[in-house]
Amino acid sequence: MDSGDPAAWDAEAPLFDDEPDHGLRDPLVRDAWRLLLVSLLPPVPSRIADLGCGTGTLAQLVAEEGHGIDGVDFSPEMVRRATAKAGSFPGVTFVVGDAAAPPLPDGQYAVVLCRHVLWALPDPATVLTRWSRMLRPEGRLVMVEGSWSTGAGLTVARAVDLVTGAGFVPDHRLLNDPAYWGGTITDERYVVVGRRR
Ligand SMILES: C[S@@+](CC[C@H](N)C(=O)[O-])C[C@H]1O[C@@H](n2cnc3c(N)ncnc32)[C@H](O)[C@@H]1O
Repeated sequence: MDSGDPAAWDAEAPLFDDEPDHGLRDPLVRDAWRLLLVSLLPPVPSRIADLGCGTGTLAQLVAEEGHGIDGVDFSPEMVRRATAKAGSFPGVTFVVGDAAAPPLPDGQYAVVLCRHVLWALPDPATVLTRWSRMLRPEGRLVMVEGSWSTGAGLTVARAVDLVTGAGFVPDHRLLNDPAYWGGTITDERYVVVGRRR
């Protein structure tokens, strides 16, 4: 598929949540992501931007914890599903838009959260500069990415360089535990948190 084509993601949307780490239907997988996010996010309630939010599963998880969250995705079908899943939580919104230039305000967010999207954007360094403007002074980036066996993705070294280049101090954690993925993995999956220098 063409990862830069919203229509391609519209077509993926109906089956997207069938992957264990997408739908988080297995309570053990869901709890692994919940605990990971709780450990990486600031105290409740914080305002979070979820860029390339997909079907809104992470947004729902974070909203259940009591955070406010604004999700952006360029696939109208993903946004429709995210709204159905999590749009009724207080302080939760979803909008169709480009994650590279989100239609969200500057200087308002405690966290810019992104899972498995930055790698697919054409100019990730410029994108991170844009995202950094969305953060409050004490805000942080939380980037879940991977370098997959298909050859797609970003290596952890590249992601750390990008976060550093955008003016943040990076801290990364490998996500090797099968609990995150519903099975063992052989490729490089990780989260990088960027805090301001
Ligand atoms: C692999 S999915 C990840 C979804 C979600 N972040 C998650 O982890 O469940 C990638 C998502 O990013 C969206 N996406 C890709 N490029 C985008 C762009 N330039 N602007 C907005 N959304 C984008 C796709 O529509 C899709 O929903």
